[in-house]
Amino acid sequence: MTEVARVLFGREEIRRRVEELGRTIAGDYAGREPILISVLKGGTIFLADLMREIGLPLEVHFMATSRYGDAAESMGRVRILLDVERDLSGRDVLLVEDIVDTGLTISYLLSILRSREPASLEVCTLLDRSVRRIAPLRPRYVGFDCPDTFVVGYGLDFQERYRNLADIMEVSDTAALSSDPDLLVPHLAAIG
Ligand code: IMP
Ligand code: MG
Repeated sequence: MTEVARVLFGREEIRRRVEELGRTIAGDYAGREPILISVLKGGTIFLADLMREIGLPLEVHFMATSRYGDAAESMGRVRILLDVERDLSGRDVLLVEDIVDTGLTISYLLSILRSREPASLEVCTLLDRSVRRIAPLRPRYVGFDCPDTFVVGYGLDFQERYRNLADIMEVSDTAALSSDPDLLVPHLAAIG
């Protein structure tokens, strides 16, 4: 039987990389008090781990956009469901994402945030699937390059499930998962 999904980035590998990213960010922002903005919901697991690896005073705020569709759909319009209330002018803003795929979502968010005149505005993404990029965008901080395969776990979902997988899994057969959304449940049991 061919596997529907396999571990792409294991929890230990993720932990080490997040630690490295946190150290780099702490160095780059030393003496400043960055505002981390996470995009609900996928980015929150990464944010929770990353912020505890940044040994600086910082703030956390959240944004939410309308559901991810295909590229053509996203290009039409990204709807803001939750916005940051904080005044961002003159602040150092770091947008924290789970994955940058086409880049359309993040480009839209960046344009909104830029209009609020932050002192700096950068992107930190755990996964960068640059092969699918449509919007010209190079995140400043990248955890891992991601292949052109659907991924779940560590915040990333399939139909709202599997965000609580501790590993990031690559789903080679999304059709099989669509017809049986419980297929990866055994992997959840491997928690702990
Ligand atoms: P973009 O606008 O195409 O860059 O969309 C990025 C968003 O789509 C991410 O923040 C995710 O929420 C979602 N997304 C993209 N690829 C995947 C994936 O492989 N698994 C789960 N969610 C994904
Ligand atoms: Mg997301």
